Parts: sequence; structure tokens; C-alpha cells
Amino acid sequence: MQTHKHLSDIGVIGLGVMGKNLALNIIDNGYRVAAFDLDSRKVTAAENQAKAEVTEREQLLFGCNNLTDLMANLATPRILLLSIPAGTAVDAVCQSLLDAGIEHEDIVIDTGNSLWTDTIAREQRYRDQFIFFSSAVSGGEVGARFGPSLMPSGDIKAWERVAPIWRAIAAKVDGDTGLPLERFEPGNPVTQGEPCTAYIGPAGSGHYVKMVHNGIEYADMQLICEAYHLLSQVLGFDAYAIARVFERWNTGVLSSYLMEISAEVLRQQDPLSDKPLVEMILDKAGQKGTGLWTAVSSLQIGCPAPTIAEAVYARAISTQKVLRQSLASKLAGPEARDTQSVASDEQQSFIDGLESALYCAKVSCYAQGFQLMAMQAQEQGWLLDFAAIARIWRAGCIIRARFLQSIAAAYDSEPELANLLLADGFASTLSARQQAWRQTVAKAVLAGVPVPCISSALSYYDSYRSETLPANLLQGQRDFFGAHSFERIDQAANERYHLDWSDPKRPLIKLD
Ligand code: 6PG
Repeated sequence: MQTHKHLSDIGVIGLGVMGKNLALNIIDNGYRVAAFDLDSRKVTAAENQAKAEVTEREQLLFGCNNLTDLMANLATPRILLLSIPAGTAVDAVCQSLLDAGIEHEDIVIDTGNSLWTDTIAREQRYRDQFIFFSSAVSGGEVGARFGPSLMPSGDIKAWERVAPIWRAIAAKVDGDTGLPLERFEPGNPVTQGEPCTAYIGPAGSGHYVKMVHNGIEYADMQLICEAYHLLSQVLGFDAYAIARVFERWNTGVLSSYLMEISAEVLRQQDPLSDKPLVEMILDKAGQKGTGLWTAVSSLQIGCPAPTIAEAVYARAISTQKVLRQSLASKLAGPEARDTQSVASDEQQSFIDGLESALYCAKVSCYAQGFQLMAMQAQEQGWLLDFAAIARIWRAGCIIRARFLQSIAAAYDSEPELANLLLADGFASTLSARQQAWRQTVAKAVLAGVPVPCISSALSYYDSYRSETLPANLLQGQRDFFGAHSFERIDQAANERYHLDWSDPKRPLIKLD
């Protein structure tokens, strides 16, 4: 057995990109980390990086040869952070920890993108052996290293023990402005500001919230891609010109990390061809499944989230490149318009309208995500604090954006808000900008440029502002072929009627 001079505060299992960077972040904040990975080269690499990054500091990261060593080198009760792929690997490591003698008060924190229902099942499964806790992490490699957004859930007593480390390593924001306080220097973490972590609720709730974060992330990314497509197809802008538009938008209401990195991607020249790199990247999008889970969950619970679902479909249709190539020459589109002929004032008004459309669509997709969390919370009996969720997404995570400060304010003033579109600030901004949103969608449709997310978000907005929808006809259809019955607008709710469509006299029957 290999023992270190001091016992460590936390064990990190899995030293891939996220695990290693979380471990380095934790030692930057003065905690001792015992680290293990099945691949011993990763253990050595993490130790070496910890030494090399901050040379004057005593070594705080201790590599371990196996889980038994790791357990022996941790202060008890132990805290173990798992940074391993979601799925069966989590149970495999939990079983190995049981074999290595994990104890009842020890806490195992799953930081992967696990399916929330798996997390609930695991908390139950390991309840008598150790505390299975979870904390979803957002922010990618840089976030993990210098400050992620962390969404912990599970046993509240476990949270009390984990919280000091979590608050230290989380991204920080200036509470007044809502803007991130960032510093990317090893050994010199940001210590002031509000940490982007808060206890979310019982087991599974943190992973659910992270899943919805990712669903919003899918929609937000696709919205930006649609804007790129429109600027390229309708105005004939090249990638560098579009990067300049995005950079300008990033100083206004659309200011966000995703807008910032999109401009940077568009600005990048390809080292091989000298063309913009983006033009050399194959247009087939990958996905690991969290956006799909969000869309499935929205369908299961009956909460409309069409823009999130469309973002998943957009990735799916992108992968069908061969079919798209066949159909490109077979299906007619609108007559091509000479982009050169677009006058510069027309160009500017299109860009401004598109900025409004993007903002409205973005608000609409956040409204979908927050409503979905609210409906699931009600179903599961979770008491989610939506203002706190918006606040911990203001920095560190992939969807960090200036307007999350406004979302937090909306929920602060009305914690039970049924939908963000009801918040006065958002309602009046969307009302003021909706005409530009319509014009953008109309232009896209006339130009034959697909805008599934911008347009589905508009349909969502229009559906919710429609006091009357054509579901009356739908109920009539259902009653016609399946005797499914209907309620009447002039009778008490829940009183059900059926018209006997097969009888020539068509009598109306009141059902008991
Ligand atoms: C984050 C990201 C992260 C990851 C997603 C996206 O919040 O840090 O969401 O979790 O990038 O898994 O994955 P896909 O786009 O591949 O589904």
C-alpha cells in the first residue's frame, strides 16, 4: 500500500479532460487531492501538470495506483468525485469502491452527464452502503479548470460537507452586474463574487436541470447557426463578415459565450486551404444525447419545448448528408436572388431584424426549458429555485449569457412564474420585437433557407398568445372516429359530450 504524508480532502476518480481539470482546480483552492485513473499515464500526467503549473507550491495532487490506495489516502468520512463516462461505468466504479471498502458515511459524487432517472435509481441502490450524490458540471475543459457551473443534488447533509469545496472551485459572478469574474491563471483562482453553484434538490434533480441546460444549449447553438446560414444565403456574407456581425451582437442583448465563440470559429482561417475554417468543416453535427433526453422528457410530460426538439432534429437531418445531396438536385426551391443586388440599407435592416428575431427566439427557448423544469419539479415533488438556477448559469456554463441576470430577476420577483413569457420585461420586449421576428421568418421561408428553431420559437410564441387554438376541430375529429368525447365552451368544465356521428339524426349525448 502506498501512503502519502497527509491524508487528502477529496479523491478524484477518472483523469480524462474533465477529471484532471477539476482536480487541478480543486488544488488551486488549497485542497489536497488523491487522484486515480485506470490509465496510469493519466495519473502521472496530472501529477506532473500540478507540479509544473505552480512550481513554488507544495504538491497537493497525489497520484494513486489503485482504488484501495486512494481510499487509504483520504480523510474520513471520504469524499470521492467520479469523472467517468455516464452509463454502466458509474455502476462498475461504485462496485469497485464497495470492493475497496467504501463506508456508510463516504460520499460518491457523480459529475458526468448521467440520465437523471439513473441517478435516482443509484441513490436508492447504494443507500445502505454509501451516500451516492451527484453534481452535474457545465463549462467544458476551461470551465472545469478555472470555474465551472455546478448543479449538485441528493442528500442535503452530503451537500453541507461538499459545499465549501464546490463554492471554491465554481465560476464566480459579480452579483450586481451578473457578469462573470474570470481569471485563467493556475494557482490564482477567483475568490470574490457569487459562486455558480447551489443545491438543486433531491437526487436526480441536478442532473435533470443539467439535462435541460443542455437542451437549451442545443437550441441556442442552432439559433446562432440559423443566423449564420441566413446572413450567408440572403446577404451573401462570407464567414469573416458574419464574424463581425456576431462580434457586434455580442456587445448587446445577445451577449453570450456561445455568440462569442461562434464569432471566433467564423474568424478562424483554415491552416490547410487558407479559406475560413468553418467552410472546410463537414456539415454533419454530432450529439451525445442530452438534447434528445430533454426533448423526450418534454414530450413525456406534455410540456411544449418545440425549439429544443427542432434543434435535435436539425442535428439529425444534418447527418443525412447523402440524402440531402440527392434531394438537392431533385426538389425545387425559390428562384435564386442575386445577393449583390441587396442595397446596403436593406442589408442593415435585415441584420437588425435578425438580431431581434434571434433574441426573441432565445427568450422563447429559455421559456421552454424553464417551464419544463417547473413541470417536472411538480411531478417529482422537487422545490426548484429558478432564480438560483438562472444565477448559477450566469458564469462557467456553456449557455452563460448576460440575459440570465434578467431571468433571475424575473423569478426573484415571481418565484411561481408559470412561463417566462409572462414576466413583464420579457413580454414587453418580445411584443416590441415580434414584427421583426416575423419578417425574418418570412424572408427565410421565401429564400428557402431552413430556420427550424427561429420559426418554431415564433410558433410557440404565437400559440401561447392565442386564446383560441384549432383544438376544437381536433376534438371533433377524435369524437368522430373514436368517440373520444369533448367538453363544451358553454357547459361546466369536465362535463363530457359525444355526438353520435353514425346516427343520421346526430344526437348529442351527455356522458356520465
Ligand atoms: C457543458 C456541455 C457538455 C457537453 C455536452 C454536449 O455543459 O459543459 O453541455 O456537457 O459539451 O455533452 O454534448 P453534445 O453536443 O455532444 O451532445
